[in-house]
Amino acid sequence: MRNVRLEFVRSLLIFLSRRKHLRKWMETSPLARRLSSRFIAGSNLEQALAVCRDLNSEGVTVTLDVLGESVSSVAEAGAARDAYLRTISAIHDKAIQGNVSLKLTQFGLDIDAAACRANVTQLVDRAAALNGFVRIDMESHEYVDRTLDLVCGLHAKYAGVGTVIQSYLYRSRKDVEMLNSRGIRVRLVKGAYLEPASVAFPKKAQVDANYLELMQLLLDKGNYPAIATHDEEIIAATKAYAESRGIARDAFEFQMLYGIRRDLQSQLAKDGFRVRIYVPYGEAWYPYYMRRMAERPANLLFILRNLFR
Ligand code: FDA
Repeated sequence: MRNVRLEFVRSLLIFLSRRKHLRKWMETSPLARRLSSRFIAGSNLEQALAVCRDLNSEGVTVTLDVLGESVSSVAEAGAARDAYLRTISAIHDKAIQGNVSLKLTQFGLDIDAAACRANVTQLVDRAAALNGFVRIDMESHEYVDRTLDLVCGLHAKYAGVGTVIQSYLYRSRKDVEMLNSRGIRVRLVKGAYLEPASVAFPKKAQVDANYLELMQLLLDKGNYPAIATHDEEIIAATKAYAESRGIARDAFEFQMLYGIRRDLQSQLAKDGFRVRIYVPYGEAWYPYYMRRMAERPANLLFILRNLFR
């Protein structure tokens, strides 16, 4: 019964994450912005860079995300590209140990696929010129084929581009094998969208079991994989698997989200593992924030308690 209730709250939060009116209201409310600061590193690049410097000084690297997704015009997509160009240059100029992560729908994938490809190519090209790296995040299942096509096309020309695979999708083993065979870097995650049982494992235990299998496949045959999770059991299993196979600690990295399990982040870094933190910043924080709420509905109670205090 408790699981059914939790699933309901989770689905409701992800449903609300797509409501445009609620988004507008939340993103312009000073109170809501204050609440979002737990997961969002700031509203502008300067604030985000300050967070990155602090994280770097603790021995962890970063990946910067300029918040935004599902833009509705080519002009908005162009503005997102320019914001990323500034971010890529700043990472280089300020000697930040980090790279960028982006979502294709932020560059116009839904409205003009050619413009999206041109925008992202420009970013990967700039990153390549500065010895950087661009990670293409994975969105809901309708985008997987288009995302992998674009990543493979770019990777044929630029080494510094990688993507994300979600263990909740049935198809992911095949996708990991394809990416491994091309030497394309993969970040492995559980998956953050509301997906039907026709494409994704409905039970958390199945998603976790698939994660463990894909983690092993990536550690054995992948190119510098990123094990992105806050799940202590999976992290322990990853460490144990790497040790049992004689895989060096610098042959892979752990990744976590800004504001989640800082204790675990610094412990792993202290233990000599590579750790990268996903650092989102910008004004368009609502969908990202709601997905973080959905991952752990207890966050919502925490916020409501603070609101009433
Ligand atoms: P799980 O949800 O089982 O959580 C394990 C434990 O972690 C919880 O018990 C709790 O302690 C803690 N925790 C997890 N989420 C929390 C939260 N929001 N607040 C507080 N505590 C929390 N997804 C996607 O679909 N496409 C993508 O491109 C990415 N990219 C990405 C990058 C990085 C660096 C990370 C870490 C994650 C993503 N994700 C993602 C999100 C991912 O799919 C997943 O939703 C979250 O990582 C939560 O899953 P966990 O693996 O942490 O496990």
